[in-house]
Amino acid sequence: MATPHIACEPGDIAPLVIMPGDPKRAERIAKTRMENVRLVSDVRGIGAWTGTLDGVEMTAMASGMGIPSISIYATELFSQFGVRRIVRVGTCGGISDDVKVRDVIVAASAHTNSAVSTIDLPGVTLSLAASFDMLRAAVDAARAGDRAVHVGSVYSSDFFYSSRSDIIPALDQLGTLGVEMEAAGLYACAMKHRAEALTVLTVSDHLKDGSGDLSPEERETLFQGALDAAIAGLNA
Ligand code: ADE
Repeated sequence: MATPHIACEPGDIAPLVIMPGDPKRAERIAKTRMENVRLVSDVRGIGAWTGTLDGVEMTAMASGMGIPSISIYATELFSQFGVRRIVRVGTCGGISDDVKVRDVIVAASAHTNSAVSTIDLPGVTLSLAASFDMLRAAVDAARAGDRAVHVGSVYSSDFFYSSRSDIIPALDQLGTLGVEMEAAGLYACAMKHRAEALTVLTVSDHLKDGSGDLSPEERETLFQGALDAAIAGLNA
């Protein structure tokens, strides 16, 4: 039984989903890290690749960009395909001075300017948070590596090009580590469907000094490190 955005049967999708933003990245994860992999859906070029990773059945599938896009896929996966855990693996811009380009951020929680935090319960701002078990396993795995690891809140913005960059210092004051565009939507969907989610990010640029001119090769190496932590989170 297909959904509007995923054209396969529920059994074609694994209960554990690795979710980068970019469909090409999902394909690369499938082809370089997974075994017995097959393309089970390709609606709008968002390939869903199901196979095994270190013997565990998983699906790699992209979210696209932004909270509306990740919310569509996460909602259909959690509600129609029996998915129990989704880990987003992506990039973010650094906000805090403590955070440097190339560092890893594990998003324990996500602030947002999106309506996902306020629309469901009038008068209540929902707190959008990661699964504790996934978070703990990913943090342990990331800390065993050689990169600096930060655990805390990120800001999921509805805008990549924002006219309100003046709010960034206030977010910094509140200890916000970085800015990206999907974690809050993923956490809201997981909460709604009583499922679990996590976001593991590589800092690709920094808002304070504009640093972050990473080569494609370095981006790929850094991504693989964050992916290992994300997979540990899925396997928790
Ligand atoms: N993802 C990576 N860098 C970003 C930035 N500066 N703003 C929003 N999302 C991002």
